[in-house]
Amino acid sequence: MIMNRRQMLIGLSAAALPQPIRAEGSRVILRPTKVDMVVEGRLIEMIGFNNSVLGPEIRVGQNETLSARLENTLEEGTMIHWHGIRLPNAMDGVNVLTQDAIIPGGSFDYRFAVPDAGTFWYHSHYLSLDQVSRGMLGPLIVEELDPPEVDQDITIQLFDILIDAEGNFDRTFYPSHYTREGRLGDVMMAFSSSSQTRVGERLRLRVINPSVDRVFKITLQGMSGVVVALDGMPLFEPQPLDDMVLAPGQRVDVIGDVDAEVLVLESSSVEPLLLTKISATGSRDKRNAAITSLPPNQLPQPGRITQSVGLVMQGGAGGKPHGGFGSWAFNDVSGLPRAPLLSAQRGETILMQLRNDTAFPHGIHLHGHHFWETDERRAPTVLRDTTLVEAGETKEILCVFDNPGAWLIHCHMLSHQEDGMATWLQVA
Ligand code: C2O
Ligand code: CU
Repeated sequence: MIMNRRQMLIGLSAAALPQPIRAEGSRVILRPTKVDMVVEGRLIEMIGFNNSVLGPEIRVGQNETLSARLENTLEEGTMIHWHGIRLPNAMDGVNVLTQDAIIPGGSFDYRFAVPDAGTFWYHSHYLSLDQVSRGMLGPLIVEELDPPEVDQDITIQLFDILIDAEGNFDRTFYPSHYTREGRLGDVMMAFSSSSQTRVGERLRLRVINPSVDRVFKITLQGMSGVVVALDGMPLFEPQPLDDMVLAPGQRVDVIGDVDAEVLVLESSSVEPLLLTKISATGSRDKRNAAITSLPPNQLPQPGRITQSVGLVMQGGAGGKPHGGFGSWAFNDVSGLPRAPLLSAQRGETILMQLRNDTAFPHGIHLHGHHFWETDERRAPTVLRDTTLVEAGETKEILCVFDNPGAWLIHCHMLSHQEDGMATWLQVA
């Protein structure tokens, strides 16, 4: 069966993941280079950082400073965004709003403290639909001062890739990709930083969805555990481990004990697809200690709501007409308007109503902040930096805007972003 063949080959490429780069006290150099990836037995030319696709995992301790120089060895501009990190605006890596594209041959020094422990990631934020789909991304792990006791701390990156008839990376412009779900790849894969475990081991799995447009639904088999964090932020109370839906950009941290070989399955369709597995050889005594919640990060608590702002998602196939020039729009505008969606005083708590008036789901990502999802009574539930809003759904989020600067908010389905679904806000 084709799926098994894919599986085997994907396993081979995943095994080639490089060792994580430790970033304390030394500058990380990131250089995008052409790298081949094995997909279905063929070499596909991608772009990865430091000869690796997907890019190297960067690890740094909480409150440490991450210093990274991006050297642009490409023939086009680029820049890096540090997804989910609450950093100074000038380090956010957003074209026009925070920096100009780094020209070919140029470089840029990113340097910022990492206030929150958790699972984050970095990616190109320039021509990002193209550059991210070609591999310009990697995990950014901020370690707790006192990390939970586990046998292995494993990163699992979900990805998909579009292949043309000749078996090469497909960069054709398909109008339908822009007006529907986006550019979904025809091969789905998962890269695990470990391929071996033992029955009885306690694992921390950091699942990241850096794919450009695909919403993954992941089922884990072979371990029993709990979800301990979403988008890098610890849950106040761990949630039972169930199917996990990850919009592009989102992360889920799981801690659990291994019962058997661990299977990572994509379960959106009736017939689940095996993406990768962590084989179990041997065993160890199960740990008795219960799995507890991770230490919380220090974020400001929401106060009295001082503004309510609506963000209406419009457009796409079957959508009502709107005033923007692209396929997609927020509040009748495609792309960044001259005036921000909202202006906040530093520290203001603002309620944002995200209304999806389209026939497709959107993963809305806010830069520079995390926000609270809320329940029916508008009480905060979980912190996220990206939230999935289903077709026809309205979600209310609460955000304490305490990070000054001009911040992007956009759909993280990068085809949608490229075709209009982005705006910005200003924090004084
Ligand atoms: Cu992960 Cu604006 O991006
Ligand atoms: Cu979208």
